[in-house]
Amino acid sequence: MPDRVNMEKIVSLCKRRGFIFPSSEIYGGLASCWDYGPMGVELKRNVKNAWWKATVQERDDVVGIDASIMMHPEVWRASGHVDSFTDPLVECTSCHLRWRASEISNERCPTCGGELTEPRMFNLMFKTAIGPVEEEASTIYLRPETAQAMFADFENVLSTSRKKLPLGIAQIGKSFRNEITPGNFIFRTREFEQMELEYFVKPGTDEHWFDYWVKERFNWYINLGIRKENLRLRQHGKEELAHYAKDCYDIEYLFPMGWSELEGIANRGNYDLTQHAKYSGRDLSYYDNEEKKRYIPYIIEPSGGVDRSVLALLIDAYHEEVVEGEARLVLRLQPSLAPMKAAILPLSKNEKLIPLAKKVYAQLCPSFMTCYDDSQSIGRRYRRQDEIGTPFCITIDFQSLEDNQVTIRERDNLAQIRVPVEKLEETLQAKLSGEPFEATPLWATRQK
Ligand code: GAP
Repeated sequence: MPDRVNMEKIVSLCKRRGFIFPSSEIYGGLASCWDYGPMGVELKRNVKNAWWKATVQERDDVVGIDASIMMHPEVWRASGHVDSFTDPLVECTSCHLRWRASEISNERCPTCGGELTEPRMFNLMFKTAIGPVEEEASTIYLRPETAQAMFADFENVLSTSRKKLPLGIAQIGKSFRNEITPGNFIFRTREFEQMELEYFVKPGTDEHWFDYWVKERFNWYINLGIRKENLRLRQHGKEELAHYAKDCYDIEYLFPMGWSELEGIANRGNYDLTQHAKYSGRDLSYYDNEEKKRYIPYIIEPSGGVDRSVLALLIDAYHEEVVEGEARLVLRLQPSLAPMKAAILPLSKNEKLIPLAKKVYAQLCPSFMTCYDDSQSIGRRYRRQDEIGTPFCITIDFQSLEDNQVTIRERDNLAQIRVPVEKLEETLQAKLSGEPFEATPLWATRQK
């Protein structure tokens, strides 16, 4: 297997197996817009659930929100996005392609060699109008980050949750940026999903919490099964820091196009609440009962992309190998992330096997994402399941009709065990929670 998979193979697997395909493809697609198919939507949901569990559910210092994508336009003036969320852009006077000025190494168009215009600033926010009458409608923006809702809702969340600082507000949701040069599949798109946490802390404790969240977030990716050697931390240089940031680390992943940002963790100081207090006229300071004083909280922000996490997980899990002389492509996704946990495969389409196979399928469906497949040869069906990363294939054969036992085949080590049908859920549950395949219950015997 080559050391690193290229993006073409990932795009092709995603299309072939229903993870991700071009949006509105029957009309020729829409540049850099992608749809998550039946497998992709499960993987993405599992990633979001893992983030929510680690960030909100398992902590008592973080609560969640799900805010409106459209917000009051003043939010984006206060945040600095109206004035500063811009990229310098140059346009080719011949082919009219636009480029980020920073991407141009000589003075000519990289596509046709044409002459380029002087750079001009281009705001990345999508504008739209709200209201039925066009002339009276007011301009609003599709949010370019989910973060601002956490600042705008701080007062409401604080008073209703009855929590003290440090307090985090978390959100997962769509964001929109009119990127000049989207690309690299789902790495940079104009519509994407973010997983953001705004962690409000007492000034002076911000550096401690910043270090804490950098470590915490790095370990989250490791715990999802991404190999450590493909992850690294990179601190922003002073000149690179966003206008609001005191300090910032990127968690980078070794994508096929090189090391690139997976997530940013910023110490935003007291910039956000100070700005929103100024623009809204509301007092957004916090009364610290222990210190008996008011202050504007500082904010630590871990901000990750759902789509980039999905892409990194697919790349990291992708393995081509040869097993007993046959090539096999397998997605070694952590079982908790795999779109399907089990596949029910009757050995053949024999009419005696199908009813038992369908019964087992119906038995597992309420507890696990399970699929049923009785088409083509068993070898081809195993291969299909390997390619979508299904950790367990359950085969029903003629022996099953006699002893009411089925065979579980494990995706990674290809070990097979026989299990009574009534012990199936229990066995799968144990394996999904990490029990090694060898540690099978006493009643399970290895198939010869
Ligand atoms: N609130 C801070 C913020 O939005 P960012 O670094 O601009 O910071 C955070 O974005 C994360 O969102 C990135 O690390 C990336 O994972 C994801 N992201 C940003 N722009 C994206 C795009 N155009 N396509 C896909 N993901 C994107």
